[in-house]
Amino acid sequence: MKLAHDMLTHGVNIVCAQHEGKRGGLAVAWATQVGTDHVLICVGAQSYTRELILGSGAFGLSVLRADQLEVARWFGTQSSHHVDKLAQVAYHLGETGSPLLDDCAVNLDCRVVEVHDFRREKLIIGQVVGARLAEEPFEPLIYRSKDY
Ligand SMILES: Cc1cc2nc3c(=O)[nH]c(=O)nc-3n(C[C@H](O)[C@H](O)[C@H](O)COP(=O)(O)O)c2cc1C
Repeated sequence: MKLAHDMLTHGVNIVCAQHEGKRGGLAVAWATQVGTDHVLICVGAQSYTRELILGSGAFGLSVLRADQLEVARWFGTQSSHHVDKLAQVAYHLGETGSPLLDDCAVNLDCRVVEVHDFRREKLIIGQVVGARLAEEPFEPLIYRSKDY
């Protein structure tokens, strides 16, 4: 039963990394805060960016606003293996060297501290070393059951 995928509600984040001259990013709905200063993301084997996260030991997480559906689709429906997604998007680098989107609700710059295997997924825990919250109030983009 695909209970979680069909029934839970998630915010949508863009998780980016760069390593040895390669850069990439993917949409991640399976993400949560763990404790006060750590974030857990769940990234599947299909993701090219996953190798960049593991190689660099860091990732940048950018939380999307409700009006950023096209950004979610851009990062979530094609692979960095074939497309340089960050070439189309304004971003800056965090202290870890990870790309963070300029236009979004929240930036979290994270250093990987633990990685756990669960079937085809990797549960990646990052310590937040830098954070920025949008100055304007925002509605988050919400994803549930393959729809927004
Ligand atoms: C809204 C949305 C949420 C997604 N959440 C996740 C997720 O939590 N984990 C994951 O591995 N893939 C997730 N995906 C799929 C990846 O974003 C997708 O496979 C992407 O093309 C991988 O890009 P990459 O190969 O450049 O890393 C999501 C896709 C969408 C559209």
